[in-house]
Amino acid sequence: MTTKKRTGVLISGRGTNLQALIDAAAKPDFPAEIALVLSNVADAPGLQRAAKAGIATKTIPHRGHGSREAFDILVDAALREANIDLVCLAGFMRVLSDSFVRRWEGKLINIHPSLLPAFKGLDVHQRVLDAGVTISGCTVHFVVTELDSGPIIAQAAVPVLTGDDEEALAARTLEAEHKIYPMALGLLAAGRVRLEKGRALFDGVPPNKGALFNPAL
Ligand code: GRF
Repeated sequence: MTTKKRTGVLISGRGTNLQALIDAAAKPDFPAEIALVLSNVADAPGLQRAAKAGIATKTIPHRGHGSREAFDILVDAALREANIDLVCLAGFMRVLSDSFVRRWEGKLINIHPSLLPAFKGLDVHQRVLDAGVTISGCTVHFVVTELDSGPIIAQAAVPVLTGDDEEALAARTLEAEHKIYPMALGLLAAGRVRLEKGRALFDGVPPNKGALFNPAL
């Protein structure tokens, strides 16, 4: 197989999506390797997950650089230094500057715990519950300069169940996140999806033709 894409993962917290990517990349035929995990938070538990897997880690605190751009320049430099090809945002709680996003356009992806373009931003699960929808989900998308708005690579739908609280819905959604993020990174790394003219273009990727009904039929 051709060389694996060197992937950098940017985190700020617990890193369960990072773990899903690490586990997928441990399989010999996965087209990406996790080569660097970078955090803006020194004690992010995700850094331990990376270290345990023998992956290089780096912390760049976001404070003290004077501007957002100055922090992003340091992140960009660390990624370049590690010869990173692709970047996954996995619970990275910083908004990246336009210049950073443009520099990595088509190579930078994010996971969001809703069916975008619904429920962009923070506190997603409570807003989903407040809205009373019966189906929620998660989305992996290319990152563009507008927040939570890039072309969609993969989505999974999960039912919202009677009696759900934020925690229950988050846990159900997270399980689906852990499946679609490795899938989406695999597609990108294998060149089976690419960003072109503001769309995600697929090559030989079979669609799922089933439907999720909630309540059940
Ligand atoms: C996930 O819900 C992800 O969708 C969102 O932030 C959360 C990160 O969780 N962007 P984890 O750090 O991967 O466990």
